[in-house]
Amino acid sequence: MDEILVRGGRTLSGTITANGSKNAGLPILAATLLADGEYHIKNIPNLSDIRTMIKLLRTISTEAEFTDHELRIITKKEKNHEAPYELVKTMRASIYALGPLLARCGEAKVSFPGGCALGARPIDYHLEALHKLNVTIQIKHGYIYAKTKGLQGAQIYFENKTVGATANVMMAAVLAEGTTVIQNAACEPEISSLGDFLNKMGAHVEGHGTESITVQGVKELHPVYYSLIPDRIEVGTLLVAGAITNGKITVTNCMPEHSGIVLNKLRDIGYTIEIEGHSITIYNKGKRKPIEISTNPYPAFPTDLQPLFAALLSTIEGKSIINENIFSDRFMYISELQRLGADIKLSGSRISINGGNKLSGAPVMAPDIRAAAALVTAALASEGETRISRVYHLDRGYEHLENKLASLGADIERIETDALY
Ligand code: UD1
Repeated sequence: MDEILVRGGRTLSGTITANGSKNAGLPILAATLLADGEYHIKNIPNLSDIRTMIKLLRTISTEAEFTDHELRIITKKEKNHEAPYELVKTMRASIYALGPLLARCGEAKVSFPGGCALGARPIDYHLEALHKLNVTIQIKHGYIYAKTKGLQGAQIYFENKTVGATANVMMAAVLAEGTTVIQNAACEPEISSLGDFLNKMGAHVEGHGTESITVQGVKELHPVYYSLIPDRIEVGTLLVAGAITNGKITVTNCMPEHSGIVLNKLRDIGYTIEIEGHSITIYNKGKRKPIEISTNPYPAFPTDLQPLFAALLSTIEGKSIINENIFSDRFMYISELQRLGADIKLSGSRISINGGNKLSGAPVMAPDIRAAAALVTAALASEGETRISRVYHLDRGYEHLENKLASLGADIERIETDALY
């Protein structure tokens, strides 16, 4: 139960490197269940969701060695085909074990994920699509029991775009008999990356990164070497941290093309964005103005950066609007930002921010990963001291964000449990 202590008011400057992508890494790690042998995956961020996924793989069939952002995985004959409650309750993405386990063992027992800080988050799209691939599913005692006598290719149409279910179906379909076509598929870079990874393993996936993905099943796959794409959400977080302090920072190891709309929104506010190869620099010389944002599936504005922009827009004079169209309940952080003095009103899935109040430090509590990052960045722009508790949320998605911000000049430190009690 560490806390983060921020003394606000410093202007950030300098250069910082982004880590590999958590959300690309999680399904890719699950996909290593699809073939026995030795994998090397580079640019892996050392954060707790990744460590949870490694723990899950170890309980199923894997030996793993994790050193300095490189993961060596040896997939062996499975010991079991279960994703237990203890792991799923700490990370919903454990559901990514479902597709690969069905492809590999013909059966899977995965704890049914409950709700979370973002709302109900059902998994009906995953289950309905897998059912079409010839899987029978029963829900008993809090677990999904899934079984197949042989995965069969199928036509899948998702009513709404879903990253998780698109990935799960891809991972099941690569070893199915025949062809699977996924319509209205998620187009996120993390899905493109999963398709590339599977193809490197010997799969036949086409159209990943578009709304229509075709998977031609193959008999077997093989292990590979791979390097994860950069984390576009961490990139956005760091840019917001630079922006909120009116500093000038450069984020390296990015793929700027994955951040198109986010960079455009920062430009709309008034920031200058310079792109050079894999680096993005942000600074501001003139006036900043309020904007309107609507979250939607990629390539539209990502819901994961919505809380970060709410923090930023709270410091910019005038009325900004954010419409949240992915997770309608993703506003648990508002009352915490209000404790810092932000003027935010919630109406349905829309918030209106009356920006420009001087924020002032206070103790706050992080309700989820991105909200935790939003509170940290808001604290950078707040006068005096802010103590952020429930930092384990931050640690799920960021590798020591406080060290990165400190290296850019922030006055920020982690207070470890022992020091607190
Ligand atoms: C992933 C990301 C998360 C991001 C989200 C949207 C990971 C580990 N997590 O989450 O950071 O915020 O994409 O970009 O990559 N839905 C259903 N039924 C389902 C599945 C989804 O109704 O079976 C709904 C969800 O409640 C949500 C929408 O579809 O409203 C999109 O969810 P989805 O894209 O599946 O999100 P995740 O994969 O869980």
